[in-house]
Amino acid sequence: MKGFDPAESFGPDVARRYDEGAVRGDEQDASRFLAEVAGPGRALEFAIGTGRIALPLTERGVEVAGIELSPDMVNRLRSKPGGSAIDVTPGDMSSVVVPGTFSLVYLVFNTIFNLLTQDDQVRCFENAARHLADDGAFVVEAAVPGAWTKEYEYVRPEQVAMDSVVFDICRYDPVTQLLEENHVRLSGEGIRFGPIVCRLIWPSEMDLMARIAGLRLAERWGGWNNEPFTADSTMHVSVYRRQ
Ligand SMILES: C[S@@+](CC[C@H](N)C(=O)[O-])C[C@H]1O[C@@H](n2cnc3c(N)ncnc32)[C@H](O)[C@@H]1O
Repeated sequence: MKGFDPAESFGPDVARRYDEGAVRGDEQDASRFLAEVAGPGRALEFAIGTGRIALPLTERGVEVAGIELSPDMVNRLRSKPGGSAIDVTPGDMSSVVVPGTFSLVYLVFNTIFNLLTQDDQVRCFENAARHLADDGAFVVEAAVPGAWTKEYEYVRPEQVAMDSVVFDICRYDPVTQLLEENHVRLSGEGIRFGPIVCRLIWPSEMDLMARIAGLRLAERWGGWNNEPFTADSTMHVSVYRRQ
């Protein structure tokens, strides 16, 4: 998408509305799963955002730190109860180094896709490995591309109301694996655009990225409640540990 800048895709408007639109309802299940993996150790969230998962995880007694590209998302985190106690390092999760090691590094809500090249995604796995204690785990949660990519170009209604509509306009390029998407909202207030570009990767490509980073797949689930991962799974929760 010409002119698209990933650093600007979670700006002040998106950050202000993020917790209305993006709360998925998996926060308790995700934080329970992640707390079990972290055990008594510390956790590091790549792309911590507004703390949607980090805050419930701290409520479960886990000390959480984060890396985040968008200052606006971090400001939103800071405005929430408990948010200012979380140590967030600004920058890119594929390169920023946080002091110390962690028993859990995690990256959820498809955010590995926000890195737009294979090299950057590999670097992200390497950066996760760099931060892991010897017995630590890197947990990645992402969609299994499939339903999205069956049709390469589509328009999908997201919300239909009397006075507004929200729809998604998408185009997928199987050569680059880039999905270009714009969430468009039409209402009496005007037209609002929400552009995003993602590089979709299948679990198999992630497993190879992990191996390049010195990690191996230890567990793969179809959801946060340890659902089996099957041919019908639309998402996966993958747990990587040192080889
Ligand atoms: C879908 S949100 C997920 C936020 C949070 N993890 C959650 O589950 O709600 C994606 C987040 O990734 C951040 N992000 C995107 N690319 C990043 C990068 N290269 N390094 C660090 N953060 C990044 C965005 O600013 C945004 O806060």
